[in-house]
Amino acid sequence: MITVGIESSCDDTAIAVLDDYRILANIVSSQNDIHERFGGIVPELASRTHMACIGVIFDQALQKAGVEKKDLSLVAATRGPGLIGSLLVGFSYAKALSYALDIPFVGVDHMTGHILSAFLESEKPDFPYIALIVSGGTSALYRADSFFDFTLLGRTRDDAAGEAFDKVARLLGLTYPGGPAVSREAEEGRPDQLRLPRAWLEENSLDFSFSGLKTAVLNHCNKCRMKNKEVNTAAVCASFQEAVVEVLVEKTIKAATTQDIRTIVIGGGVAANQHLRASMQKRCREKELDLYLPAPGLCTDNAAMIAFSGMKLFKKGVTGSLNDDVFSRSVLGC
Ligand code: KG4
Repeated sequence: MITVGIESSCDDTAIAVLDDYRILANIVSSQNDIHERFGGIVPELASRTHMACIGVIFDQALQKAGVEKKDLSLVAATRGPGLIGSLLVGFSYAKALSYALDIPFVGVDHMTGHILSAFLESEKPDFPYIALIVSGGTSALYRADSFFDFTLLGRTRDDAAGEAFDKVARLLGLTYPGGPAVSREAEEGRPDQLRLPRAWLEENSLDFSFSGLKTAVLNHCNKCRMKNKEVNTAAVCASFQEAVVEVLVEKTIKAATTQDIRTIVIGGGVAANQHLRASMQKRCREKELDLYLPAPGLCTDNAAMIAFSGMKLFKKGVTGSLNDDVFSRSVLGC
């Protein structure tokens, strides 16, 4: 079954073509150069840019996949959560394709895509598993019991992990998006040079909180500036990254232990972070847990995960209607 997936929930225009589980094309057009000078995403610019390039990306994806419009059997598009203007571009494009080509379409929750992205790799996890999903818009822990059955175990009470990376990068004068910039700087610094707080919250809580950590970095920078001392950017980045990663890893291990689950999957843009990947690998080895790490390009926003999730929904009997609307908050609780 040839499925075309469309993802436009935030600032990336992504289109993928899948033949069941096999990725034939997976194209992501980044808007980073447009939003960089603002230090964050400008929603109106994001939707206008999606409008300008979605048709071109669609043609590129078909060409890369070596298929024609007549070969497509299903169109799947992100329905939410995300920026409404951005979502509307991809979702409306999907409906128009479905109508014009007379093929079914299905709306997909973006979080489902991240939770299932590990199935796009050759080694596939078994259910049940714990999914840590960490991106610019959310940080959450789920229990996945099937392709359709997810239970939210914990989520951020304030900033998402990626949002904290982006905000810390901005206050240190680093480039946008902040995650890759902070992690590059962190390679030159020592994580123990600056002691930053970890928000463990209540004893059994699997929720996250990163705003206090971000404020601690801001206070440290302000203190340095008041004393006319230069901020050691590398040390701040290494210490900040360490604090985020430690909490993400330990809460994920705790989720697996309390749920008595032996398999862990991670996804979302922050899952591309090499320190997080290495720390999670180390702790899973120690605890004898199976870890599935999708390639970084399948962790950050992509349409392959949307096509895959849509295909699974369709095979279960779910189809969309031209009356369906987009949503800004996930039905999965984030
Ligand atoms: O999942 P994603 O591509 O988009 C959504 O938020 O939906 O995630 C983007 C987020 C940004 O906040 C970015 O700074 C962060 O993921 N990110 C990283 C890394 N690469 C991307 N954070 C830490 N380390 C990275 N290597």
